[in-house]
Amino acid sequence: MGDVIGEVLFAEAQIRARVREMAQEITAILPAKDLLLVAVLKGSLFFLVDLCRELPAECEIEFMQVSSYHGGTTSSGDVQIRKDLDVSIEGRDVLIVEDIVDSGATLSRLLAFLGSKGPRSLSVVTLLSKARAKGIDVPAMIVGFEIPDEFVVGYGLDYGERYRGLPYISILREADRLP
Ligand code: PRP
Repeated sequence: MGDVIGEVLFAEAQIRARVREMAQEITAILPAKDLLLVAVLKGSLFFLVDLCRELPAECEIEFMQVSSYHGGTTSSGDVQIRKDLDVSIEGRDVLIVEDIVDSGATLSRLLAFLGSKGPRSLSVVTLLSKARAKGIDVPAMIVGFEIPDEFVVGYGLDYGERYRGLPYISILREADRLP
């Protein structure tokens, strides 16, 4: 691996340990049978893969793609559904899998969208959340780490599509960014 990008907030081992704990938190409150994980591309991909391997084998996975950042570092507020689900979620226990809740706009849109499709239950797990730092109200969810209001990359999170593959999560400050 090359030089470390940005200031490391969570190392690989820390993330792995927390993901394992989160899987236990999920199985304590949600039925493994018929649980459908809905991962939000692209950022949640790495988290989904690691989380799924810690959950009971019966869990199913599906994907949606929602985008609001359009390559920048702040949410445009314009949350577009780029890829819808390919299956019905009526009567299913659905767990939305997110990498980060930042402004909360994406989650809010997803909850309204999926909630209208008749799931038996609709829950949320996110690896990172800025809700506390930003003082925003979000529905009850399982959170891996509450983080400060900084721009973060790695473990699925990008800056202009770069850095998703970093095994750690870093704060990317102005000086680290591309022109
Ligand atoms: C990121 C992230 C979340 C969302 C959170 O997605 O993966 O889905 O932003 O931000 P919010 O709480 O302010 O709405 P992005 O739109 O950057 O797409 P990506 O996952 O493909 O990078």
